[in-house]
Amino acid sequence: MIRSLSSPAEAAAWCAQVIQSGRSLGFVPTMGALHEGHMDLVRRARAENDAACASVYVNPLQFDDPRDFDRYPRDWEQDARALDAARLDMVFTGTLATFFPGELCADGSFDAARLADPGPCAAGLEGEHRPGHFAGVATIVARLFEVAQPTRAYFGQKDFQQTLVVRELARARGEPRIVVCPTSREPSGLARSSRNELLGPQARERALALSRGLFATRAAWQAGERDAGALRERLLDAAREPGVDVEYAALRDPRRWTADEPRGRMDLAIALIAARVGSVRLIDNLPLDEASSAAAGITTAGITAAGITTADGAVR
Ligand code: PAJ
Repeated sequence: MIRSLSSPAEAAAWCAQVIQSGRSLGFVPTMGALHEGHMDLVRRARAENDAACASVYVNPLQFDDPRDFDRYPRDWEQDARALDAARLDMVFTGTLATFFPGELCADGSFDAARLADPGPCAAGLEGEHRPGHFAGVATIVARLFEVAQPTRAYFGQKDFQQTLVVRELARARGEPRIVVCPTSREPSGLARSSRNELLGPQARERALALSRGLFATRAAWQAGERDAGALRERLLDAAREPGVDVEYAALRDPRRWTADEPRGRMDLAIALIAARVGSVRLIDNLPLDEASSAAAGITTAGITAAGITTADGAVR
């Protein structure tokens, strides 16, 4: 059975042993309710490192909506079984008190002044619609990196803006190497997400509006459309669906993050969308140009097995 540790201190000791013995360590941070998208990251961490571990922790610091936190799906037993089947070496969890010992307020809450600065890529889109979200992500990811001290850490393209925030964090710390894996989709096109569990059959059908919008926008790009405004219109238009409330439909140059919507002609582009389907908030994105698609592990034939295509398989 997989080694499953319930405290960050025990996990830190285990990870330190791996690193001190000269082995490389792959690390996959998650909030659990694991699906095939998570498992792609896990398999890659396993394949590219001598040892691999994951964390499963529903981090309250990154939820701007307490109801979303309360109903976030949790199934520790099933997650441990899935990670065991993938032959991961270790999984750990913790609590606010054990992740931040001696750092909490007297009432057990987290002192907002101690939140990490998520950097410039937290501006706009998710950062704007979920105030404080990326500060919460940066705070826990920085702590998880301190606990695991991994050689490589694995993140999904599905949360594109999060990958930018995490890369910036890793760059500032000097480690670990950040590996970004392609978005895993259901055959219908729907991006896999733990929150999909909260969708009923009708909502799941309606949720296809997000990927439909993104693929239609890529088709427009492939047909030669380069104007930011026209691409955005295409995205909004193709994602229109009763019961789907689009929060943002946006274009960005993936190499130069800006809070504001770009204008005029684009040479590199990623389309991003967030929408509420009933009460469930979903996000998705799709690189449009060849270079950005290749960087996200997508070829015109589909998704490459290897994902990122740099020489050492890592994007810093
Ligand atoms: P969570 O949503 O559980 O996702 C964990 C990792 O799995 C993230 O890097 C996410 O981008 C990736 N992932 C989720 N769905 C995916 C999909 N369909 N295809 C590919 N990768 C996918 O992201 C978080 O947790 C948290 O913010 C965390 C980084 C753990 C910090 O709390």
